[in-house]
Amino acid sequence: MALLDRPVRRLLLARRKVPSHPVHQLADDALIAAGTQRKCYRHPADARLCIMVPRDPDNRAMQGANLVEWFMLGMLDWRGISTQHRITSRGWAATEQGPGLVLERVTNEDGRPALRLDDFIRQKQPSREQLEAMYEELKQWLFANKVPVNDLFCSNLLVRQTQTGAHLVLVDGLCGERFRFKLLVYGILPDFTFWRARRRWLVVEDKFRRDMEQYLPAQSKQSDDVMSSDPLATE
Ligand SMILES: Nc1ncnc2c1ncn2[C@@H]1O[C@H](COP(=O)(O)OP(=O)(O)O)[C@@H](O)[C@H]1O
Ligand SMILES: [Mg+2]
Repeated sequence: MALLDRPVRRLLLARRKVPSHPVHQLADDALIAAGTQRKCYRHPADARLCIMVPRDPDNRAMQGANLVEWFMLGMLDWRGISTQHRITSRGWAATEQGPGLVLERVTNEDGRPALRLDDFIRQKQPSREQLEAMYEELKQWLFANKVPVNDLFCSNLLVRQTQTGAHLVLVDGLCGERFRFKLLVYGILPDFTFWRARRRWLVVEDKFRRDMEQYLPAQSKQSDDVMSSDPLATE
């Protein structure tokens, strides 16, 4: 299925409309965070948005992450999936680092930037029970809406704090960086794509729990191990 990569990539590149003006300057001090593939900057003209650009503008895999995310978020919009635990895309913008994907920036109810899950754990020191409830809420939403997830890492999750509590928001990890078959058919066969992702769920979940464990205080690790119980067992 890797054969699909190139033609689909070409098709999406042809459909991608990048306005030639304005060309945004992405200043170093506007950098929000860098992932493995992309860098995330504050939008110079709108504080409610951010712009994702590949870490290396000439690297195909890094460009692919933006294309896949654009495609998948468009598909979720098309399917009418709620934005409770996800972001929305606002299309493309020209930047001096090449085309960037404009995304809604995740904020708390008071408008302040949301923390990433690892920072939230370090700074707010939530209990394992609270983290478990946040994870369960996200999982219910993913499963109810058949949203296929490739990776669930702390760096792909932001925490939106509201009066009703803290809620996880997925900012990355939908189907990876490549145009696999399961991704291509997601619009017409969401059940198939979700079924593929669901088969890997225990692996995704296990990796997520291990990732989160690094940020939990040592004392909490020894205590009653709520986060390592298997919530699927109750389904
Ligand atoms: N919509 C967003 N709002 C706020 N911060 C974001 C948003 N999207 C990404 N980020 C920040 O940028 C970082 C890297 O983004 P990510 O999509 O994970 O990039 P990569 O594709 O390289 O893994 C995230 O860990 C997060 O801190
Ligand atoms: Mg990421």
